[in-house]
Amino acid sequence: MQYKMNLRRYRQNQSVRDTFSTVNLSSKNLIQPYFVYEDLAEREELPSIAGQYKHNLESLKKEVAYGLTQGVSSVLLFFIPKSKQKCNFDHDFDCSVISGLKEEFGDRITIFTDMCLCSQTDTGHCGIVEEGRVVNHKSVLELVKKSVAHARAGSDCISPSDMMDDRILAIREALDENGFDQTMIMSYSTKFSSSFYGPFRDAAESTPDSGDRKSYQIDYRNESDAMLASLRDMEQGADILMVKPAGAYLDILYRIKHHEVMKDYPLAAYQVSGEYQSLHMMEQNNLINFNDALLESLYAIRRSGADLIITYGANNYKKIAGER
Ligand code: PBG
Repeated sequence: MQYKMNLRRYRQNQSVRDTFSTVNLSSKNLIQPYFVYEDLAEREELPSIAGQYKHNLESLKKEVAYGLTQGVSSVLLFFIPKSKQKCNFDHDFDCSVISGLKEEFGDRITIFTDMCLCSQTDTGHCGIVEEGRVVNHKSVLELVKKSVAHARAGSDCISPSDMMDDRILAIREALDENGFDQTMIMSYSTKFSSSFYGPFRDAAESTPDSGDRKSYQIDYRNESDAMLASLRDMEQGADILMVKPAGAYLDILYRIKHHEVMKDYPLAAYQVSGEYQSLHMMEQNNLINFNDALLESLYAIRRSGADLIITYGANNYKKIAGER
């Protein structure tokens, strides 16, 4: 390499900078999350996540149609039922939303459905609690039933976020046995126990009533667990792996994307509610420009190795990126 090097030539104006850019991100690679509530008369703004709403099927359809005009065809649905239970969950509400959306849009959209019990359990935990513990096997059986119900209603991609052991294998087998061999699974494979889920829990009514999620979500000090969790889920049949949250875990994203065995697997990253909302709150305090910071954060996630990004900014991405 030369001793003197003029790198500012690459930076001199927008056109030159665009020409030399090495990373690209399109709204086609983004997934927009939605919160759908049972028995909601009309959509309501969510106080905890900027620009997001509590939806019913009608308002959801409108928003999804808008997303399509912005190049976003992938949606991730979270369902918040009215009543909470201990076990034997009923999935009629979720299924009516899934089939309603499929009826309207068919294959123009890809429906990802969150697979977890936290907004259905009376404890707010992601699995069934017995004697103060979240039990694995019984929770997996419930997730399997729910997955088959979602697939039958028209979900294109079951997205388990519960972090029970070996749920991917159980769900894959059940889907295949019931004739849903084309239904995909996106595993929240490397999901850390994180403070950054705070605004989401408020929205999804899923704050645990006691204790925390540390006995099932990954400890951020354990890199081995983080790697093994994705490797195992890949081997058990996940079609897409995920790192969540994204921003504070870019090293893990990079490691998985460059891992000998996992490097060619589709990898998603979830820019979670706390990451997203903190940008908004900084803007509210006149400290940053939200749109600029959002693009920068999404590009960082992309550069680190994400093929797909789940972000609350998906539907606005095209506009924001187009303005720059
Ligand atoms: C739980 C779930 C959570 C999120 C997605 N699925 C919260 C949690 O694990 O407590 C977080 C998403 C976000 O913060 O945006 N099933």
